[in-house]
Amino acid sequence: MPTSISTVISNALSERGPAITSPLASPLDRALELAEQALGGVAPRPPVGAVVVQGDAIVGEGSTEPRPGRHAERIALSTAGERSSGGTLYCSLEPHAFQGVAPPCTDAIIAAGISTVVSPLEDPNPSVSGNGFRQLKAAGIEVVRTALPEQLRRAELLAEGFAHHLKTHRPLVTLKLATTLDGKIATRTGESQWITNEASRFRVHEMRRRTDALITGIGTVLADHPRLTARDQHGTSIGRPLLRVVVDTRGRMPSDAPMLHEPGDILWVVAKDVEVTPPTNSVTVHHADLAEGRIDLTKLVELLGSRGLHNVMVEAGAELAGAFVDNGLIDKVAAFIAPKIIGDNGAPGPFSGTGASSLENALTLENVTHTVIDGDILVEGYVSKGG
Ligand SMILES: NC(=O)c1ccc[n+]([C@@H]2O[C@H](COP(=O)([O-])OP(=O)(O)OC[C@H]3O[C@@H](n4cnc5c(N)ncnc54)[C@H](OP(=O)(O)O)[C@@H]3O)[C@@H](O)[C@H]2O)c1
Repeated sequence: MPTSISTVISNALSERGPAITSPLASPLDRALELAEQALGGVAPRPPVGAVVVQGDAIVGEGSTEPRPGRHAERIALSTAGERSSGGTLYCSLEPHAFQGVAPPCTDAIIAAGISTVVSPLEDPNPSVSGNGFRQLKAAGIEVVRTALPEQLRRAELLAEGFAHHLKTHRPLVTLKLATTLDGKIATRTGESQWITNEASRFRVHEMRRRTDALITGIGTVLADHPRLTARDQHGTSIGRPLLRVVVDTRGRMPSDAPMLHEPGDILWVVAKDVEVTPPTNSVTVHHADLAEGRIDLTKLVELLGSRGLHNVMVEAGAELAGAFVDNGLIDKVAAFIAPKIIGDNGAPGPFSGTGASSLENALTLENVTHTVIDGDILVEGYVSKGG
């Protein structure tokens, strides 16, 4: 009777090194899963997952650590140790080939004696783009670029914030919304908790875990007293502590705002001439330029880009969300639509900006996907920059 892959893996692991939970999916799927675990807080590094396979067994795994930590490939290789020799490395992104904060991963792969590298995606960074694969091939390592379309799509999605930042020097800005079927975010009396169901709200927490920062407006901080953290069903924090950005022209954030007492830094963005004292050590004040009397959002997004953030998510009320749309700063939308109708034209909608006066100028999404989450619908898409 053939030995099962889990037996092979556990036998191999018992020979040396710590036990690794063995995935039954393909090693490339596992590498993608490890990259997904790295998302959120590793920028300016791209999130990468790597797996070393010897025979049928996974003998090493790694995911990108935040600077100054190690790259995924080095972690996987060092866990595998001597078992890397003659093995196959699966990697969600092309291994980097230049001396940056971290030494080139290609050197470590060559030194470890890896014989095959499987990686679906070329690194969009011009300092790498193909050089990693070329160096490996020059050293006699077989490079396999084949992947299932779904695996390639996952790899591209993982690197999308990184690729966007390389091109624009800004983070990819995702606007998250939650509305009823009639496009309302609260009742006339301001009741908004909860529009969407529990499963959708956990999805939002998972999206927060994957982002580098959350941006909100002072209106939401004052109305909802949010914690703005990523949590699981039991209320336990997931992922790395999140950077929260509070857009607050006049410095009205109260010193007892619950978000101040959660783990993670807060960037308190106030007008240049507003004097405020950070209420806790986790708060940094940024004195911002104004545009039409309020925080200049374009400069704010540029500032976040200059700090190396790749993915940010706007979770704000109608005023700030509308201003982001009016300023053309949204790249991606994640709209949760609950099967409820408030049916009151006095109930607020998600945007209070100037908006578009013709359909031709309406913000339009492309590459749209729909996911049904226990009856809610999540519509995700990229803002068409063409029109
Ligand atoms: N359904 C959803 O997805 C969702 C998500 C979040 C919040 N909400 C709801 O939204 C409500 C709060 O909405 P809101 O509109 O009052 O709050 P908001 O959009 O979160 O914050 C608006 C405030 O941001 C400040 N701001 C600074 N610079 C700005 C700029 N350039 N443009 C626009 N605003 C700027 C303004 O105050 P200053 O001028 O003083 O700076 C403005 O009043 C809450 O009831 C909350 O429940 C819903």
